[in-house]
Parts: sequence; structure tokens; C-alpha cells
Amino acid sequence: MNQLPLARGDAPGKIILFGEHAVVYGRPAIAAPVTQVRARADIFPARTCTVEAVDLHQRVDVAHAPADDPFARMVRLVCDALQRPLPPWRIVVTSDIPIAAGLGSGAAISAAIGRAMLTAFGAAMPLAELSALVYEVEKLHHGTPSGIDNTVVVYERPVWFVRGQPPVPFAVARPIHLLIADTGVPSPTKIAVGDVRRAWEQDTARFEALFDGVGDIARQARAAIEAGDIPALGPLMNANQDLLSRMGVSSPELDRLIQAALEAGAAGAKLSGAGRGGNMIALVGDEDAVRVTRALRAAGAVRVLSTSIQPQGML
Ligand code: PMV
Repeated sequence: MNQLPLARGDAPGKIILFGEHAVVYGRPAIAAPVTQVRARADIFPARTCTVEAVDLHQRVDVAHAPADDPFARMVRLVCDALQRPLPPWRIVVTSDIPIAAGLGSGAAISAAIGRAMLTAFGAAMPLAELSALVYEVEKLHHGTPSGIDNTVVVYERPVWFVRGQPPVPFAVARPIHLLIADTGVPSPTKIAVGDVRRAWEQDTARFEALFDGVGDIARQARAAIEAGDIPALGPLMNANQDLLSRMGVSSPELDRLIQAALEAGAAGAKLSGAGRGGNMIALVGDEDAVRVTRALRAAGAVRVLSTSIQPQGML
């Protein structure tokens, strides 16, 4: 007989619409949740505190896990914040968010664990505090996260994000339809972020100029989203992709999908997340979505998701 969980928590995936990498260096970025894919945590009574990641074939004994284990870290952070001892729970984590694909799977798993634990403890926590705990875990994945992933998966809203500042409310005036296509090439964020850091150290002036360009694009994109001028977003996505290529974070697989989407009628396309692999996004009208999806599959996409960012997106 299947046991019912004591509590459940979940959190969505995310895409970065504009501003990845430059956001690590203080420029603004825009990200949105992807609710079609989610991470979930179910809590069952047990004798000790463990986290089981079914898809990853991992089981972590929280009391004895190394300090850099992300699951154990999240559990300990929540217990510390609530001043509770480690509870006797089996926390089972599942996720349909692809790993190392720029869709924020790590942050979503941490947020799901946090939400399930809060429910099981009968406790509440402001979103900003939960987001800050998830950020602490994100630091284990790569040393200098901007904080955009934890913010968007915890707030579950489109966010205008500047590193070190609270997310700013902004209005989405009209729906934005996007396709998200996976190259199938895993791309750990840490490697791309580290490579950009080394390149920035070697040629700071050039990289600062590229980041400034990205920041300007993000500002123009925000104005277009607030005004409901969706067609303006296409050229801005293409311009952002050009700057990301010049930073060295695109790849032949990403370029192939981007080109296929544009040729099939997408209004704009770019990589989303750390790059090198992972996912790209394409802006489509209702009438183009089927054609662009077919073109992406034919160009090698291993999965194509359709999502839309809806007008109620106010923080
Ligand atoms: O976790 P990813 O692959 O979505 O990438 C995060 C975006 C970066 O700007 C590359 C890094 C960061 O910390 O913001």
C-alpha cells in the first residue's frame, strides 16, 4: 500500500529571457518560471532524516552527509532558520526539470524541499527568506551565482533582477509565447560561468562593454514587455544572442537550433541559461508554433516545450 506523505512541496523550472552571464556582473536580467516542468519533494515519517533523489539514484543521510551536499545543506538551512532539530523524515525528491540544462533544476529542487519542510513543520517563511536559503545552496553548484535562479523559482513570477537587490515588480502587458528547445548537451553552469570569469579577467574592457550591451537590451526588453510590444522582443533576443556568442558561451548545437527556429519563422531566438549546451528559447506567434517546433526537432532538439508568460506577472 502506498503511504501518503506528511507534506509535499514543489517549484517550477525557469528560463532567462534576457541578461544571463552579464547578471553575474551587476547588469539587470529578466527571467520567468516554466510551470510545465517542476521539482517535487514528498516527506514521509521515518527513523532518521534522509533525502532520496529517485531520478538521480541518490540517497543522503543528512546527519552524516558532507557539508557540500546540496540536499543535506538545504535541509539543515531550513532547520537552522526555524531553530528545529533534524526531523525523522524521509524526503523524496523527484523532478521533470532537465539537469544541467539552464532550466534551474538545482534551485527548484532546493525550493521544493524547503516548501515541503515548511508545511511539515507547520511553519511559514517570507519568500525573500526562502529564496535566500536556496541561494546558499546555489553557491555549492557554482561559487558566484547571481541569485536569479532562486529568486524566480521561489517567487514563481517573471522577475526583473539585479544582483544583490530585491526583485522589482514589473507588468507583463500581453502574453509572450515561447518554445524551449533542448540541445541534449549537458552544460554545468559552473564551467561556463568560470570560463566567462577568466575571459573577463584577461580582457576586462571588452567584457564590460559586452555586459553593458546586454544590460541595455534587458532595459529595452522590460519597456517592450510593459508596453505589450511583443514583436520588439524578437530583435532584442537576437541581439542578446549575438553578445552571448561573443562572450564564447554559445555552441554549434545551440547555433543550429537558433538558426532553424529563425528560418521557420520565430521572431527571435537565443540560448537561455549558462549556454554551451542546455536550452535555447524562441519567440513565436500562435500561427508559427507548430512549424517552428517541427524545425527545432528536425535540427536535433531532444525536447521542445511550449510555454507562455502571462499578463498577471506582477510581484
Ligand atoms: O543555471 P543556469 O544555467 O540557468 O545559468 C544561470 C545564469 C548565469 O547568469 C549564467 C549564472 C548566474 O548565476 O546568474
